[in-house]
Amino acid sequence: MNARPADSLTPTRDAAAALASSRQRTLALTDCLDDAELLAQHSPLMSPLVWDLAHVGNQEEIWLVREAGRLPALRPDLDRLYDAFRHPRADRNALPLLPPDGARRYLRQVRERALEVLDAAAFDGDGPSPASHGHHPLLAGGFVFGMVAQHEQQHAETMLATHQLRSGPAVLAAPAPPAAPADATALAREVLVPGGPFTMGTDTDPWALDNERPAHTVDLAPFWLDTVPVRNADYQEFVTDGGYADPRWWTPQGWAHRQRAGLAAPLFWHRDGGVWLRRRFGRTEPVPPLEPVLHVCWYEADAYARWAGRRLPTEAEWEKAARHDPATGRSRRHPWGDADPTPEHANLGQRHLQPAPVGSYPAGAAPCGARQLIGDVWEWTASDFLPYPGFTAFPYQEYSDVFFGPAYKVLRGGAFGVAPVACRGTFRNWDHPIRRQIFSGFRTARDAAPGEAL
Ligand code: AVJ
Ligand code: FE
Repeated sequence: MNARPADSLTPTRDAAAALASSRQRTLALTDCLDDAELLAQHSPLMSPLVWDLAHVGNQEEIWLVREAGRLPALRPDLDRLYDAFRHPRADRNALPLLPPDGARRYLRQVRERALEVLDAAAFDGDGPSPASHGHHPLLAGGFVFGMVAQHEQQHAETMLATHQLRSGPAVLAAPAPPAAPADATALAREVLVPGGPFTMGTDTDPWALDNERPAHTVDLAPFWLDTVPVRNADYQEFVTDGGYADPRWWTPQGWAHRQRAGLAAPLFWHRDGGVWLRRRFGRTEPVPPLEPVLHVCWYEADAYARWAGRRLPTEAEWEKAARHDPATGRSRRHPWGDADPTPEHANLGQRHLQPAPVGSYPAGAAPCGARQLIGDVWEWTASDFLPYPGFTAFPYQEYSDVFFGPAYKVLRGGAFGVAPVACRGTFRNWDHPIRRQIFSGFRTARDAAPGEAL
């Protein structure tokens, strides 16, 4: 557990707390809707919520209870129904799914056994023991507990996206994020990230997923990065300037998609008279100019950057800005250091149901001065989702391996809907470049000219 901060909880308590808080999220997002709404297909892009509900239980049964815990199967008949690769999201409402009550009961039964596995693992004194004790490799560093908690939290974010797509009266509510600090409007537009090597990825974070490994050195040229994500006000200028009507700003595939899909503004925006409004979890409100833009696809982010005379940062550039500490030469877990996020560092965990205004969270700033790299909005990068040199799939091919290649672009940093357990400087998310129902925004970059870089 050498990568966990010294003052953090023991791995066992971490595991119990992570499992409990993921379940609390799942139930909060499903107990607020009646059975008809849980069974409904709110969008062809999403599963019925009742599918997500039992799917997280089924994954917990397969990996934690059966595989790592070596306990007998509880409901092996459910494996096929809740296999994401067997049924496209749009078809899942036609499956003989467990009804909401049955799904909740199944979740409780699996969790009871999962806690037995945790208790047994914790018996080894110093937390879940390494494989040399005769335990499954999934238990080393408590990995399987972290993996299952992160999986459930990733589905909690997916379920939050389903809530955003559903029509009908609002059922979710949360306080607005705090106002930005006084210096927010005085921040430099961009920050310089010096050139040179840094460590990308990790070997030591016990709960890092397979695609974040192994650690490796990447040498980068110096570059400038936006201090904060692109704001709605900035993005509106692109719209007003005819950015969606000018193929010069778009890649050929991006332009073709813009035409086919009729893109004209971020998803959930519409114009009423002279005013841009947006729909957010069932309520309509003016687009807040100082918030990071949200619900744009990779093609839109890429076109905006070109229009602005800039480009998207590469994935390596993003991670260097977020993790590299020039004082020590080390890569840290988060922009602010190795400590777990608190509400002062970042907008995470569905505490708020929207991004905070740009310039918020000065305590979460990176050494380079960039803010809000973690939390608020996922940030599109220029990069395809590819394995790091020396990648090994663990524990299964379908987590990352089958997605590597040019069909997916990488997003970094996590959004307001992401739980802290599923968010860190090394965490990699990916999606098709046309997707925008996810909580996606971006910031832009440019090469440093010779002489600009110290
Ligand atoms: C990492 C968000 C792309 O939702 O497809 C959930 C996470 N993997 N269940 C996804 C995931 C398996 C994954 N993303
Ligand atoms: Fe899943």
